[in-house]
Amino acid sequence: MNRRGFIQSSAGIGVAVFSTIEYWNPLFGRQANAEQSQKRVLPIPKLMEPKSGESLELVMSAGQWEIEPGIKTPTIGFNGPYLGPTIRMQTGQNVELTYRNLLSESVAIHGHGLHVPGDADGGPQREIEPGESWSVDLSIKQEASTAWYHPHTHGKTGLQTYQGLAGLFIVEDENSKILSLPKSYGVDDIPLVIQDRTLDSRGRLLYEIEDAEDGMMAETVIVNGISNPVKPVPAGLVRLRILNGSNARYYNFRFSDNRAFYKIATDGGFLEEPVSIRELVMLPGERNEIVVDFSDGRAARLVSGPSVLARADFPRGERRDRDRQQGQRNDWEPGGLNDNFDIIDFIVDSSLPGSRLSLPRQMNNIDRPVIQGLPTRHFELYMEGGNRRRGFFGGGDSSSDMIMGINGRPMDMNVINERVTRGRWERWLIRSSDGSHPFHVHGCSFLVLSQDGQVVSPEDAGWKDTVRVDDSAEIVVQFNYEATENFPYMYHCHILEHEDRGMMGQFTVT
Ligand code: C2O
Ligand code: CU
Ligand code: CU
Repeated sequence: MNRRGFIQSSAGIGVAVFSTIEYWNPLFGRQANAEQSQKRVLPIPKLMEPKSGESLELVMSAGQWEIEPGIKTPTIGFNGPYLGPTIRMQTGQNVELTYRNLLSESVAIHGHGLHVPGDADGGPQREIEPGESWSVDLSIKQEASTAWYHPHTHGKTGLQTYQGLAGLFIVEDENSKILSLPKSYGVDDIPLVIQDRTLDSRGRLLYEIEDAEDGMMAETVIVNGISNPVKPVPAGLVRLRILNGSNARYYNFRFSDNRAFYKIATDGGFLEEPVSIRELVMLPGERNEIVVDFSDGRAARLVSGPSVLARADFPRGERRDRDRQQGQRNDWEPGGLNDNFDIIDFIVDSSLPGSRLSLPRQMNNIDRPVIQGLPTRHFELYMEGGNRRRGFFGGGDSSSDMIMGINGRPMDMNVINERVTRGRWERWLIRSSDGSHPFHVHGCSFLVLSQDGQVVSPEDAGWKDTVRVDDSAEIVVQFNYEATENFPYMYHCHILEHEDRGMMGQFTVT
């Protein structure tokens, strides 16, 4: 049996909660004889809100962190042992960020989802040597959204992210301040950084890729750095800002009671109106905001696992089944969609300040360009050669390792793959000749037109910067900032081990 097969999906009905304040949930507590498991309260990354012109420092260093209770795991983080603070910025603001590297190796830090010029983007050209720092002036011009920062070090993005380097940006604007949505950070506006990690027998992070195609798939799903968390929430509407910060794992989130919830935002901003859904697929790199109604006081468990709606609601699922029966090429299952995980328990604490809101009908106005006649660029993601079932760091004869790239070539720091004209709408057509990939583009938000030939669903019709490519995806995109040959933007697969292995390209905007 594959190690992954041991992933627990605990019945865990009796839940005792321990933290600095011992917490007992009466709803679960009634099941007196049920199995009990120890839960810890979800840690909330510290909020930093720079004032205009103020400089803010993010110090990267090594430390120890209890991913599992009682086990001290060596990790790296920003201003702490694991992950980093949430940086909340306002549209129109100038924020100076200083990344200081106290690690023993070089690191490049990228602002994923920020609309900033190439020289502020933090791509692999921007390595910060040990002991050095990089100060970047961010001029925030984009609309309200949730973005994040993480390593982009050439060939090492996967490992450094896995060890703990990641954090959130929240951008607020006039619109987001006015909308009647939960806004109290950590109380009813809750960041959830979802990752998967495996510890070895000595409690160290195990970074071992079993299957080059899959990338790093770990055994335990953690939220904001810990396994098995519980989060008390007010009796009312609660907003969850979810980041799939995993290296490679796809999730299909739902609540164990199958309750409906509202999706309100995609990677780059609010949807035009809330969309009621029961399942949410998220790929590495994607952010989504959802609103869950806890006003009836019922606890809820967020889980991930095979779709319970698939047959009825996902024509794509049916089509893929048919393709598979006919033995067609792209039959690789994206990593993790069928694994079962308990992610986090939410329990209702009516003493918490909640907001009795009703969701706004309209949240955004998305100006869609005229598609007809737009210039088109083509991207073909491929994986080939090698022994697919061999470890990523398989050692030995590396010439037999799998090669990954885009448009016939793996990433080369010395090659500019595309040259884009600033301020011009383009249609990008992305295809995969093998497997499913989250395709991400720097320096922009784009709109998805279609995936696998099907018109994008309303829940994905908002601004995005990462899109699922099973067979194909069609997007429209415009770049408004400059990216020079010295500091070009990147497009790549956000399975970090695919990116590290070469499924990436560079482009200028002039
Ligand atoms: Cu989130 Cu180029 O990355
Ligand atoms: Cu990015
Ligand atoms: Cu990929």
